Amino acid sequence: MIFHQLFERETSSYTYILGDSATREAIIIDPVLEMVDRDIKLVQELGLKVKYVLDTHVHADHITASGELRKRLGAKVGINRVYGLTCPDVQLVDNQELSFGPYVLKAISTPGHTEGCMSYVVEDMVFTGDALLNRGCGRTDFQEGSSEKLFYSVRERLFNLPNHTTVYPAHDYKGMSKSSIQLEKEFNPRLNLNIQKEKFLDIMANLNLANPKKIHEAVPANSWCGLPRGSEHMKSGYVEGVPTVSVEEVHSKLGHIKVIDVRSIEEFNNELGHIPTSQLATLGEEFQNFLENYKQDEELVFVCRAGVRSAHATVYAISKGISKVYNMEGGMLAWNELGYKVEKDLGGS
Ligand SMILES: [Fe+2]
Repeated sequence: MIFHQLFERETSSYTYILGDSATREAIIIDPVLEMVDRDIKLVQELGLKVKYVLDTHVHADHITASGELRKRLGAKVGINRVYGLTCPDVQLVDNQELSFGPYVLKAISTPGHTEGCMSYVVEDMVFTGDALLNRGCGRTDFQEGSSEKLFYSVRERLFNLPNHTTVYPAHDYKGMSKSSIQLEKEFNPRLNLNIQKEKFLDIMANLNLANPKKIHEAVPANSWCGLPRGSEHMKSGYVEGVPTVSVEEVHSKLGHIKVIDVRSIEEFNNELGHIPTSQLATLGEEFQNFLENYKQDEELVFVCRAGVRSAHATVYAISKGISKVYNMEGGMLAWNELGYKVEKDLGGS
């Protein structure tokens, strides 16, 4: 088998390229947008035909290159169906198998770091994403993470793989490239077999980590396979999956609809300003709180800078059972382009 482990320094992320030397069919796991040219060059040097580009989960620390690789190599993009994303070609479910050449990749559901985390088993290797790292594991404090679920994912799913299985994680911060199920059972400081669930929950509850720098950029972008809003792919239909209203429509209905701006407070008050009467609910905790307390009495329109984050917000609100929600296409850029009134520096909270 052709096998390459590639590294991206800024976010310490691993990308994997696996290929069959006879048919040249290949799979890429967890590509990073900034490294897409490196990956394509290697694929071309090796003469590989990339069948699938898979993400182990919706990453919070970097933007995936999956959409870009689909565009440039004709590969199919796959991720766990649980996320409810509209951009992937393959909506993976637990135990689903994909083939490349004579090889079979099996997707196994390993939630906990995020609800949709999957690990991919190929021969005697497992690509664990952030579920299991070299002597560590991914955090569980955002993106619907759950320490309890992660404990069972590692102990009952990953640790059920043969001991000699090589563990290839999505990140490494310690200068290690790989591990094995046996080594993690023995030496993982959080999840070795001597650690009880309560102890693990306690460890995870006291990590006190800062949010990843790119979370507000990466999570929404990754919900569109890393493609920027306005790319050919988006225009050809992905926006159609999201209930969308035009800037003109929002303008004509102001006062009769509730406009929610999902950007940061700095953006809310910057040169693009915000729509009069709009309310700020920044994507993340603030937005989630807003949805939890929302009484479904008015039509909601979500707004951001260009319409990507607000599309993500719309999909998310729908997944929470809220109806009558719309994305304002084009965001504040389009609103300003039409010369509609904006407000600035009003505090917004
Ligand atoms: Fe992650």
